[in-house]
Amino acid sequence: MTLSDGWDSDELARAERLVDRIGADAGAQIVAVRAPGRVNLIGEHTDYSGLPVLPVAIDRSTIVIAAANTTGEIDVTNADPAWQGRRFAIERKIPPYETGDWANYVKASIQGVIDHFPAHALRGASMVVDGRVPPAAGLSSSSALAVSTALAFMAVNQLELDPLEAATMVARSERYVGTHGGGMDQAASIFGRRDHALFIEFDPLRVRAIKMPANAALVVADSRQIADKSGTVRAEYNRRVVECSLAARILGRALKLDGVTILGDVVRALPGWNASDLVEKLAVTSPAQLGADLKDAANILGVMQNALDADLLGQGPTRIALDPTRPLEVLKRARHVLTETERVIRAATVLEAGRLEEMGTLMDASHQSLADDFECSTHRLDALVECARRGGALGARLTGAGFGGSIVALCDVSNADAVIESIDHGYYAKHYPGTTPKNWRAVLHAGPGASVVDLRATA
Ligand code: GLA
Repeated sequence: MTLSDGWDSDELARAERLVDRIGADAGAQIVAVRAPGRVNLIGEHTDYSGLPVLPVAIDRSTIVIAAANTTGEIDVTNADPAWQGRRFAIERKIPPYETGDWANYVKASIQGVIDHFPAHALRGASMVVDGRVPPAAGLSSSSALAVSTALAFMAVNQLELDPLEAATMVARSERYVGTHGGGMDQAASIFGRRDHALFIEFDPLRVRAIKMPANAALVVADSRQIADKSGTVRAEYNRRVVECSLAARILGRALKLDGVTILGDVVRALPGWNASDLVEKLAVTSPAQLGADLKDAANILGVMQNALDADLLGQGPTRIALDPTRPLEVLKRARHVLTETERVIRAATVLEAGRLEEMGTLMDASHQSLADDFECSTHRLDALVECARRGGALGARLTGAGFGGSIVALCDVSNADAVIESIDHGYYAKHYPGTTPKNWRAVLHAGPGASVVDLRATA
């Protein structure tokens, strides 16, 4: 695959330092891949509804070096000894490790490549991973790992893919870990561009780079509330995927549209309808909340309850388990997704025009909607957002899935230090007295997307 370069000297040095650890034969080809994390500026929880997002790839990357081996296995070592090395066979259906195991993202990406190239006899690979995207901070360290290992495995096997196809493949493959996510993180990691944000649309995937205004700075601050997607956060995330799909199906039926499964299907079919028209239609068609047993939902949709259950929740190991004691919030979730979509589209225009104040206002509104309607903010995230605003940020919001993780604040370059100071005093000093929050918040820059280089070509 042809991907822009984008390695800086630091990253190349990091890759070179890993070479000794890979144990490849002298003269064997060694490839190195870098894949960045991302911070989403706006368009949260819209991607799995097939609706647009506006992230930037960040200047924090995961690096993988890889060489073919003859064992038919993937042998993956992590440069950080806290993450144990793993070895597994390449087979048609790779069984996952226990939930929460870091290497499940490696298994996911390898499985994705196997599924994409079913006719290929794939060689095993030894890999060393060096991840510098902070984990569980909402900056998509998991996708950086999945993208980098997928590209490394493909390179070792001399397989090429168009970047759009690669992004789609890795996005799909991540479902292996049990999160029914959209495609934002993988596309951002692959299509990242220095000093640019990415307006990403789905079905089909399209990416348009938008230059970041020179006076814009992005302050990213980690709440230190773990947003680990493998536990309760996964359950909450998947629950919202179900709620959004239900809202879409109900609207689709009410509006006599065929084959609707996601809100994007509705939005695309009815370009003349705005968010409030659709929310109003939903409000008169369905109760705002529906039982988690899907009985009432099946009635409204005129389908069998068990068919709806299988369709929405899936089957097998990645089946979504819904907490039966709480109702499904159909109206609120749809209101967030539909209004957020309007904000994203507007944000692309105002960012391109350099109108940062308006961009900030949209980010503030996004946070409010995520807190009130999508219910994925936390007191900690709200407090961080407040501190950023008090420090003079033009706008601030949670970024990523929420339920913990990080916030992103947009500010004028000249004001970034004041925003950081406000966060340090108002948040970290209060929750983590006596510590230096240096590694928990930073001005991050839009950086280049994933790229593959030959570190050592075959002799
Ligand atoms: C996670 C998922 C993304 C996206 C965001 C929320 O990061 O991986 O696909 O859904 O949450 O916007």
